[in-house]
Amino acid sequence: MEKVTVTALQKMKAEKKKITMLTSYDYPGTRILDEAGVDVLLVGDSAGNVFSGYANTLPVTMEEMLYHTRAVARGAKRALVVGDMPFMSYQVGLEEARRNAGRFLKEGGAEAVKLEGGVNMEAVIRAIVDIDIPVMAHIGLTPQSVHRMGGFKVQGKDDRQRKQLLEDARAVERGGAFSVVMECVPEGLAREITEALSIPTIGIGAGPHCDGQVLVIHDVLGLLEGFRPKFVKPYVNLRETIGLAVKAYCKEVEEGLFPGREHVFK
Ligand code: KIV
Repeated sequence: MEKVTVTALQKMKAEKKKITMLTSYDYPGTRILDEAGVDVLLVGDSAGNVFSGYANTLPVTMEEMLYHTRAVARGAKRALVVGDMPFMSYQVGLEEARRNAGRFLKEGGAEAVKLEGGVNMEAVIRAIVDIDIPVMAHIGLTPQSVHRMGGFKVQGKDDRQRKQLLEDARAVERGGAFSVVMECVPEGLAREITEALSIPTIGIGAGPHCDGQVLVIHDVLGLLEGFRPKFVKPYVNLRETIGLAVKAYCKEVEEGLFPGREHVFK
C-alpha cells in the first residue's frame, strides 16, 4: 500500500487517472474510506454543516478543525489528508495564514491545507507554499463567501464571471497550489480550466472533465435530510437504515428482548 502524496496526484493528472476525494471528519469513518481506497481525504469545514449543524461554514473555528483533522490523520494510512482552513484563519494577514496552516500539519497531522479564493488569495497561497506546506485551492462557489455571492449559486455563468474564474484558476496555479477544487462551475468552463492548468482540478458540481471528483461523505451515504444539490449522488440511504436499526433496538428494549442471554455476564 503506497501512501498518496501531492506529487502522486500530479502524476495521476499526467497519466489521466481520475483522482477520488471525499470529506471525512472522524476516526471510524476515515478507516472505512481509507480501506476502500479513496485517494484524498478532505477534513472539510463542511463539518460546520454536516457535523455541527451550523447554517453555513462561517462559525467553524481552528480548534474545531484541528480536532477533526487529528481524528482523520490517525485513521488515514494511505489517503492524503488535507485540512480545510476555516473562515478568518488565513484572510487577515500572511503571517497568521502561515501560522494557522502550520498548525494543521504540526497539531493536526494533515499533509496539506485547502483554502478558498483565486486572484485575491494568490499571495496567501505563495506565502504558505514558501514554508513547504502544500496548498489545495478552491474556486467557483466558495462557501465562505456565501454573503458576497448572495447564496450558494453556480458560478461562471456569464462572461464576466467566466473570465474571473479563468483568472482565478491561473492565479492559484501561479501561487504554487498543487491542486484546485472547482465547485458549481458549468462543465464546459471546468473542462477549459482543466485543460489550461498543469495542476489537477477536483470538481464538485463541475462535470465529468475535471481530473478528479469530491463529494461530502454525508451526501454519498444519504445521511442528510432536506434539500439535496443537483450534483449530489447518494450511493446508499443510511439515514433510513440507521433509523430502522434504532427503531428495532428501542422495540427490543421496550419488549424486554434485549439484552438476550448471550449478552449477559454470569
Ligand atoms: O468543506 C468541504 O467539504 C469542501 C468540499 C465541498 C470541497 O470544501
